[in-house]
Amino acid sequence: MISIHVNTTATHCDTVLLSLGKAQQLSPSGVALQKQAHVAHFLSSNDHQGEFAKTRTLYGEQQRIIFVGSGEESKLTLQKLRALAAKIAAKIKHSGAKDVAVHLAELDVVDADISDKIQALSEGFILGLYTFDAYQTCQDKKEQTLQSISFIVNQADVVVAEEAVAIGQAVAIGTNFARDLGNEPGNVCTPEYLGEQALALSHPKLKVNVMDKAAIEKAGFTALLAVSQGSDKEPRFITLQYNGANNNDAPIALVGKGLTFDAGGISIKPAAAMDEMKFDMCGSAAVLGIFKAVTALNLPINLLGVIPSSENLLGGSAYKPGDIVTTYKGLTIEVLNTDAEGRVILSDALAYAAEQKPAEIIDFATLTGACVIALGAQATGLMGTSTAIKQALVASGQKTHDRVWEMPMFEEYQEQINSKIADIKNTGGREAGTITAACFLSRFVDDIPWAHLDIAGTAWNMKGNDISPVGGATGAGVRLIVDYLQHKISTNNA
Ligand code: BES
Ligand code: MN
Ligand code: ZN
Repeated sequence: MISIHVNTTATHCDTVLLSLGKAQQLSPSGVALQKQAHVAHFLSSNDHQGEFAKTRTLYGEQQRIIFVGSGEESKLTLQKLRALAAKIAAKIKHSGAKDVAVHLAELDVVDADISDKIQALSEGFILGLYTFDAYQTCQDKKEQTLQSISFIVNQADVVVAEEAVAIGQAVAIGTNFARDLGNEPGNVCTPEYLGEQALALSHPKLKVNVMDKAAIEKAGFTALLAVSQGSDKEPRFITLQYNGANNNDAPIALVGKGLTFDAGGISIKPAAAMDEMKFDMCGSAAVLGIFKAVTALNLPINLLGVIPSSENLLGGSAYKPGDIVTTYKGLTIEVLNTDAEGRVILSDALAYAAEQKPAEIIDFATLTGACVIALGAQATGLMGTSTAIKQALVASGQKTHDRVWEMPMFEEYQEQINSKIADIKNTGGREAGTITAACFLSRFVDDIPWAHLDIAGTAWNMKGNDISPVGGATGAGVRLIVDYLQHKISTNNA
């Protein structure tokens, strides 16, 4: 871990981090140092032209100076700033620098104030330091020398900057928690394990309940049981209740697919990349990551989390193509493909959530391969019944760069999942596969305003990206929803 502070001077630090733009443009703090001989020599060498994220370290008597390229300043966005912080963090974590004074909030960023910049930088540093290497027992692991970061700001900005650090920190820690859950292999991260992780989230205003198989049978979550019957591991049905606001306020329900390994069941998947189906619980990881961040920030809002968790395997008792499953809600599902299991377990979770009469429902699921084809890794698929929720999610996606893109849910698509012998079938064919999956879910939310996020393409990224230096789970959805909730809180109070 790293501790993050706000300060008005850099004197207590062993290292100073300064930006260098194209054509050696310096920020005010850089200008203040440019007369020092070693800085002047460095600048006159022209060795560094401000290339994005390129670093050079100079050694003075008291402090190191790390110059980092910020690229073309006129093009700097919040996401670029976040990515810059993530790249620097990964680069300097073993460099010997311990306490680093960061002057990057001096950079001009399009449409961003000091608070946006400090939050993005805080997120970037913590997200960029993320590793998942506990299982690499033979590698020489260098110790992280980097211990603390101080953002240097004007006296007048100290209070807002401190708030922004707290938010950025909570969001990034929640995101890294979601990444950890996603990256844990299927033999560790089982339904039981997800339940334990939920119970370990402790906060005075949080109640967590984990149902085992017997309790699930008693409650009547029969669709969840159908998917799980091919596995020797018991399913879990996890609920989380966070009461940060008035007791009478209807909560926002967050529902997450917790399929801890998806082999496809009897409609088995091809062997290639099947290992990646350990990530099929990333919807539930997003929900748990959001709860972690929201409880850390004590947000004044009520939340209900619902996570159905199971494996989808093959075996003598596995559910089969052709089976008809009666759900918790009473609707019947004709199972045409056992690999379309996410919607089946979500049907019970959504019906349960709707029954609690929440103000709205947002669900997260690695639901369809078709969404990966449609949007790739750059945007989460967005569907649902509530224009207001969808618009707010698009805005939060832009702001946080945890982006979403809407797909249509025209009524005609619903016909694709009507069954001749049951109420609905669990696949609507190859055409518009992401949308017909959402149509299936829509049958279980009653008239509660609802949005669905298909994170199949965004939840993991084997190559890594700007802010996920190591490949694997990205924590998609956490930054998006924490911003969405904060926006909701501030407009409700306005
Ligand atoms: N978990 C998968 C979706 C998935 C596939 C996510 C690839 C990320 C990458 C889901 O359970 C599934 O298998 N969906 C099927 C549905 C089909 C059988 C209608 C799919 O997308 O192929
Ligand atoms: Mn599947
Ligand atoms: Zn799945």
